Amino acid sequence: MTAAIIGWGHTPFGKYDTETVESLIAKATHEALSHAGLQASDVDEIVLGHFNAGFSQQDFTASLVLQADPDFRFKPATRVENACATGSAAIQQGLKTIAAKQARVVLVVGVEQMSRTKGADVGNNLLRAAYLEEEGDIQGGFAGVFGNIATAYFERHGDQSDALARIAAKNHRNGVSNPYAQLRKDFGYDFCRTVSDKNPQVAGPLKRTDCSPVSDGAAAVILADVETAKTMKRAIAFRSTAHVQDFLPLSRRDILLFEGCELAWKRALDHAGLQLHDLSFVETHDCFTIAELLEYEATGLVPRGKGAQAINEGWTTIDGRLPVNPSGGLKSKGHPVGATGVSMHVMAAMQLCHEMPDAIQVRNATLGGVFNMGGAAVANYVSVMERIR
Ligand code: COA
Repeated sequence: MTAAIIGWGHTPFGKYDTETVESLIAKATHEALSHAGLQASDVDEIVLGHFNAGFSQQDFTASLVLQADPDFRFKPATRVENACATGSAAIQQGLKTIAAKQARVVLVVGVEQMSRTKGADVGNNLLRAAYLEEEGDIQGGFAGVFGNIATAYFERHGDQSDALARIAAKNHRNGVSNPYAQLRKDFGYDFCRTVSDKNPQVAGPLKRTDCSPVSDGAAAVILADVETAKTMKRAIAFRSTAHVQDFLPLSRRDILLFEGCELAWKRALDHAGLQLHDLSFVETHDCFTIAELLEYEATGLVPRGKGAQAINEGWTTIDGRLPVNPSGGLKSKGHPVGATGVSMHVMAAMQLCHEMPDAIQVRNATLGGVFNMGGAAVANYVSVMERIR
């Protein structure tokens, strides 16, 4: 355990015509500094998570953080990118800097503005996180990739439409109480299960309610070494982290196994001296409902091919044996790509501080897990967290 989160900021996720990448960064940064009770001058280093890939004309964005406060000028600032796991990649970069004793206090910001990009360009930009040489012709952007994964899963293990609708309904219900969530509506199982004008087929067996939305937003955390953290108002420590990177081409893997996810969980839990059932909750990467189902299996919560059991038997609801995505997940909270991993850590920190709204506060939460994924189980990041102050 080398470092802890000592404060955070989080813009509500949504679609914002009036915001820019720069304004979103500034909002999350100001909030995080004030939450931690620090000034910009207290920060030793800055890491920005920003995927971009065509969403914003302005690239080379690390220095945009400096515009949040003139006292950031001349501090080291670097942008980090690892597709949808960009936010966790940025956090782990900050943790490494602290572990190397190059910094005591690191500001990590994750940001994305997707909604100003129109129509097919959204899908094309997201598809840049696939292996274009072989997967560039997939229709429907990343929804097409996960539509194919869902089709392959159904062929191997039978139709899972009921389970996917239950996952969507669970996460939407949780998201109603999350003040940062983009879709705060309890759609219910029947709506999520049924194809309709309001819930059309998107790709393969995936309907609109099986997909995370297109989102704008930013989240920020302040990291500090444990010694410093223990002097602050709150400290949520990283008991362990793991990062497992797999091959990019789907053709080089059995995509239904999510092996990188499995290995990342194994490494993180072993390192923490814990087992999955020791965790009070998990925030996991439900970019599509089929991803959450596969993650139930890759974490070892259920055997391969039995993902549906975890949701059908209520294990992953807020009062189940392992609440999964009590925040509402990407499904309802939104998925502004570069901000997502940072947001997931903020959600875990809030749970561990018992600062979530009552309806989505996991009772007696002491240990939390985060799984953030880039591409289709290509970049796999796990954090195991506990409150030490
Ligand atoms: N889930 C539930 N409702 C959604 C939704 C989603 N993912 N996306 C949009 N909606 C709702 C909107 O709130 C809106 O509701 P309203 O009519 O009550 O106002 C309605 O659906 C239409 O919104 P719109 O933005 O026009 O939907 P769309 O059909 O253009 O987009 C998707 C829906 C699923 C195609 C789009 O959200 C998408 O591409 N998601 C995947 C993003 C992605 O691939 N991310 C990377 C993951 S790795």
